[in-house]
Amino acid sequence: MNIIKASSYEQMSRHAANIIAAQITLKPTGVIGLATGSTPIGTYDRLVELYQQGDLDFSGLTTVNLDEYCGLAPDHPQSYRYFMEEYLLSKVNVAPENTHVPSGNTDDIKAECRAYDELIKAAGGIDLQLLGIGHNGHIGFNEPADHFPKGTHSVSLKEGTIDANTRFFESRDEVPRTAITMGIKTIMDARKVLLIASGAEKMAIVDNAINGPITPEVPASILQLHPDLTVIICED
Ligand code: PGA
Repeated sequence: MNIIKASSYEQMSRHAANIIAAQITLKPTGVIGLATGSTPIGTYDRLVELYQQGDLDFSGLTTVNLDEYCGLAPDHPQSYRYFMEEYLLSKVNVAPENTHVPSGNTDDIKAECRAYDELIKAAGGIDLQLLGIGHNGHIGFNEPADHFPKGTHSVSLKEGTIDANTRFFESRDEVPRTAITMGIKTIMDARKVLLIASGAEKMAIVDNAINGPITPEVPASILQLHPDLTVIICED
């Protein structure tokens, strides 16, 4: 495990973008797993800058996102598809058909879960997966549980997650209660994992995840077993 302590959110974002940019440069036709939330926004801004400077080419890349709310259409401003388009995908030269976000807006969620796992497999697996971490240790929307879910699945969001995400919606009632997420095995199968966390209030859960017991009660703790994990934190 490689732990990098950044001095600011800006520096954390630059480090993370540099690692992702190096991966894209080394394997331009690879698969990058992307995350949403407030933490990766600076990373995406920096990747867009690198693209605009002519230092990065996304044209051969495939992207797969971790998760999506159930019941929100892709053009809903709080959907994760919308977020990805806004902060990264529409601003770089990735082929739209090679960008994937699981659909939580379907009548057959089980079929969507199966199809998403197949899609990742058919793309050759994930070369680098970017992760944020929730206050309860969730990665993607893998919430604390009594087991580590393997493949893509639907989840009921915990009250704390609904509280944390209310800031993006007009009211708490509008936050979807269910979501679709990549499973823990899919994340662990990524060849490289890059976890970013910023803010003093995230440091306790990061410490617990990387130094505490490995338990599905802290889903991110499984990352201790990943052979190529980089964690970038900034306490700011
Ligand atoms: P945040 O969310 O980046 O908005 O803190 C992280 C997460 O819940 O995974």
